[in-house]
Parts: sequence; C-alpha cells; structure tokens
Amino acid sequence: MLRTHTCGELRISEVNKQVTLTGWVQRTRDKGSLLWIDLRDRYGVTQLFLEEGKSDAHLLAVARKLGREYVVSVSGVVSERVSKNDKMPTGEIEIKITALEILNESKTPPFTIEENTDGGDDLRMKYRYLDLRRNPVRESLQLRHKMGQQTRIYLDGLNFIEVETPVLIKSTPEGARDFVVPSRMHNGEFYALPQSPQTFKQLLMVSGFDRYYQIVKCFRDEDLRADRQPEFTQIDCEMSFITQEDILSTFEGLVRHLFKTVKGIDIPAVPRMTYNDAMTHYGSDKPDTRFDMKFVEVNEVTKGKGFIVFDDAELVVGICAKGCAGYTRKQLDELTDFVKKPQIGAKGLIYIRCEANGTYKSSVDKFFDEIELAHIAQKFNAQPGDLLLLLAGEKEKTRKALGELRLLMGTQLGLRDKNKFSTLWVLDFPLLEWNEETQRFHAMHHPFTSPKREDMHLLETAPGSVRANAYDLVINGTEVGGGSIRIHDRPTQSLMFTHLGFSEEEAKKQFGFLMEAFEFGAPPHGGIAFGFDRLCSLFGGADSIRDFIAFPKNNAGRDVMIDSPSSISSEQLKELGISVND
Ligand code: AMO
Repeated sequence: MLRTHTCGELRISEVNKQVTLTGWVQRTRDKGSLLWIDLRDRYGVTQLFLEEGKSDAHLLAVARKLGREYVVSVSGVVSERVSKNDKMPTGEIEIKITALEILNESKTPPFTIEENTDGGDDLRMKYRYLDLRRNPVRESLQLRHKMGQQTRIYLDGLNFIEVETPVLIKSTPEGARDFVVPSRMHNGEFYALPQSPQTFKQLLMVSGFDRYYQIVKCFRDEDLRADRQPEFTQIDCEMSFITQEDILSTFEGLVRHLFKTVKGIDIPAVPRMTYNDAMTHYGSDKPDTRFDMKFVEVNEVTKGKGFIVFDDAELVVGICAKGCAGYTRKQLDELTDFVKKPQIGAKGLIYIRCEANGTYKSSVDKFFDEIELAHIAQKFNAQPGDLLLLLAGEKEKTRKALGELRLLMGTQLGLRDKNKFSTLWVLDFPLLEWNEETQRFHAMHHPFTSPKREDMHLLETAPGSVRANAYDLVINGTEVGGGSIRIHDRPTQSLMFTHLGFSEEEAKKQFGFLMEAFEFGAPPHGGIAFGFDRLCSLFGGADSIRDFIAFPKNNAGRDVMIDSPSSISSEQLKELGISVND
C-alpha cells in the first residue's frame, strides 16, 4: 500500500506516530508562516501542515504549487491540534509534513468538491466522477451497497437462490415501451431489453427453483420523473407453493430487516388497506400515511341548497387542514390555482374557515348559512381554527385531485418528515384498467396476475370490477414494490389474453413459450419486485433516486457525461440492416 492510514482514521491516541497518507487536496490555506492542507479520500479529511522556518523549504515550495484535487502522498508525524475541530472525526489531530510527493496534478474542477457544492445539476452530471468524490453522493452509494448486502443476507437466510436472467430478450408486458436492440445477425429483427424479468422468474418456478431472487437491471422507455429512470434496479423475487399471505409476510420481513440493519429502526407491523379504501379515503393507490387528513364525503349535507356545483356533482368531498383557518386570501387563491392546474384538473376549490370564535366563513356563504356550515364542519369533526377544503365533481377525478391537494397540505403543514417512515400494503388492486387511448382494458399489474376466484364470474359482465391477487408496498406515499399471485394454468392464462384483446395467434406469438410451460407442471406461484433505487432514496431521505445511482440519466433520459444516446455510423446502421431517412 502507498499509505499507512486513510484520511479518516487518525485520532489523538496516535500522536507522535509516523504516518503516510494519500488522497486529493481539498483545500490549502497559506497564512505565510503556516500552510495547511486538507487531504481527502473516501474515508474522510485530515489536516496537514507545514511551518515556515521549521519545515523543509523545498516542501513548502512544493506545497505552494498544489492546486485543488491534486493527488498527493504525504508522510509526517501525527500532532495534537491547538485549535480542535469537533465536527471532524480527525479534528483533534493534524500531520506535520516531512515528505510530500505529487502523484498527479489536476485541472481546477468545474465545481467545488465539498459537502455542499456550487455546481448545478448539469455540471455535476457531466463530471459525475467528480461529483462522486463528494461526501453526500458517496454516502448515498454506500447506503445502496449496504441495502444490497442486507437484502442478500435476508433472502439467502430464507433459501432464496439468486439467478441471473438474460438482458437481450423479447418484449415483457410491464406497461411501458421497450428499449430495443437491433440484431446484426438477423437483419430486421430486434431484441427487447427486459422491463422486468417477469416471465423468466415464472419459468424458474416451473423449473422447480421454488425461491428465486435477483438484484437486477430493468429498462423502461417511459417519461421520467424524480423517482423514475429509464434503467433502474429491482429486487425481483418469486416463490412457489405459497399463498398471498406468505408473500406479504416474507417481504414485510425483508423491509423490516432492512430498516433494522441499515437504519437501526424497528418498524411496526405493516398495516394493510384495500385499493378501494385507499382511493376512497386518500384519492391515491399509494397514500402517504405519515399523516391522517382522511377524505370526508359530504354529498348528503351539501345537496339541495341551490349551489349548482355541489348539486350536480357525483361526489362532494373534502379534507380538514388542522389549524389553517388563518390562511389568507392569497394562500387560498394559491391553493385554488394549484387544484386548477391541468395536471390536477379540478374546476375550483371551496373553503370553509372554522373561525377561532366558533363562527364560520366560507366561499359559499351565499348558499349556506352558519347552521348549515356548522353541520358540514361536524362531518369533519372540525375544531375552531381548522380549514375545510372541498372539491366537487366526477368521483374518480375529484378524488385524485383532492389526493394531490392533501399531499400539498401535508407538505405545507410539515407532516411529511423524511425521517419518519410509514409503511402500508395496498391490496386487492383491480385486475383490469380501462385505457381511454386504446379504448380497451389493459392489465393493471401485468397479464400474468391472477384474478380473485370470487370475482371470476364478473370477467364477462363487469371486467372493470374484477379484483386481482395483486399488492403494492407503499412507504411514505411512494410505491416501492408491487407483485401478485400468478395464473399458473394455460386455460386461465388464455382467457386473460382474450380479455386483454389479444387474438389467440398474437398471444401464442408473444407468450406461447410461457403458456406451453404451464402445461408441464407449473406450480402455484407468486412474487414481488421492489424498486431498489426508490427504496434506497427513501432510506436516504432524498426526493430523487438519481443520487443513489452511480451514473444516472438526466431528466431528458440522457447521459451527458458519455453523451448517450448518440448517433451511430452509417456502416454500423448498414450492418444492422437499418436505413434512416433524412
Ligand atoms: P412493477 O412494474 O410494479 O412490477 O415494478 C416494481 C417496482 O419497480 C419500481 N419501478 C421503478 N423504479 C425506478 N424507475 C422506474 N422507471 C421504475 N418502474 C418501476 C417501482 C415498482 O414498485 N414484474 C413486476 C413485479 C412482480 O409482479 O413480481 C414488476 O416489474 O418501485
């Protein structure tokens, strides 16, 4: 080793030791009589110094040439600091330099490589390898490493086998678009990158593997958000001869194990909620249960007072924002603007202030007198000082809009603390989902999900109300995992494809291999996949998954460091049998 210690290692007990450190120059401070260097490596920062008149003049000359991010090797003696820094683990000592060698020079970095950087997003992404030198980013990746390790320890302890599945495959139906790879050997034909290893893990169950897992890259060509990347990682799992209950308890166990070993937190048993309840009470299939603010439906007490918005509405529903009666006109206008944004889609917002003196003031005073307003407030169990926010309209849309408003109020009221964790199983998802664009039903989870036996008879008459044996794990309002009990016989799988609008031929062409496998003794099976990046970012208390991925894509799906995607040469195109029209 070129060093005796790391830059995060030395303590007061090592005073007078002769040591050699290597690392990057974070900063130098030259006071004339004294020159300090902060030397950084993965493990921390150690202060080094030289003294005019006492240290070798040549060493001082070399040190004065050092720029930020120079790579150096330094030998010296550990000394006790006069002014100690209790914020640094090495803050009680410094190294009196006796030898200094420049191992490599560095150009001035485009942004400061410290805890907080002055670099904007674009610059940090372009020079990601420099960004990764920063403590917070490195720590995020260390957390990811730990999460991966603990996942393996837990699953290995339960007899799960990690199996790698191929990356060059055929389309998997997870609902997004595929990334495709043209084949040189088979011109005009394409591989698809897996959106998940779904079909392979089911085949592994047919093979008798019984318990499979894989920490695996998945690829989805979809619009990006803070919690979505075109390539991301799943903890993908499948089990045979199990019930839904077995899956829930096994993977609740994984989540609890991770909280315990990675964050030292004992989380309580994961509560459960049906999809219908989640939508009715929170307007979302992934409710943030760190705070309550449940929906209250008030059709009965708002109808027939001459207010057409309420009278015409399929649903009148609201939330009670505790202690917000003092919201100003401007704040209320901002909330109205928020719900009227096209992506939220409400037509307007009705408010009722429950004043501290016990009176009521509302935006519908024209239609509702004090007694009627008090009646509505009663439904919410509202107290003086609370603010009621109501939306009215078509059921599903109104619930979704109020769900967004609830989240905004939760944020404004500081109820969404990143250090607090609230987990939830959402169960009994609908099997099918109507797609306006294609004017047909799509599988809400994926086409291999089994319908609930008791709802099977509705497949013909009311397909939208058939429930599936499908579940999601939600933490703090983020969907971190989802899975289902699968169909494992050919007739049911064929029936499902028919309901999804596949002709027999199409189904055979795309998934014939799986249906055939089901004819060779497929065991009952089911599984789940966790979004590993999302899980890591939640544990790390971050909004974006990007800092938990070493080399992520930016918001436009580009890697600006290596400049990808990029065009390829006409020779390459020709070889692949692809012609590009200008
Ligand atoms: P699903 O499509 O629900 O299920 O995906 C599982 C989990 O993966 C995460 N996830 C993503 N994370 C980052 N970027 C993305 N673009 C992205 N898309 C999904 C989410 C999600 O909960 N094969 C099934 C699982 C199964 O049935 O066993 C599947 O992939 O956290």
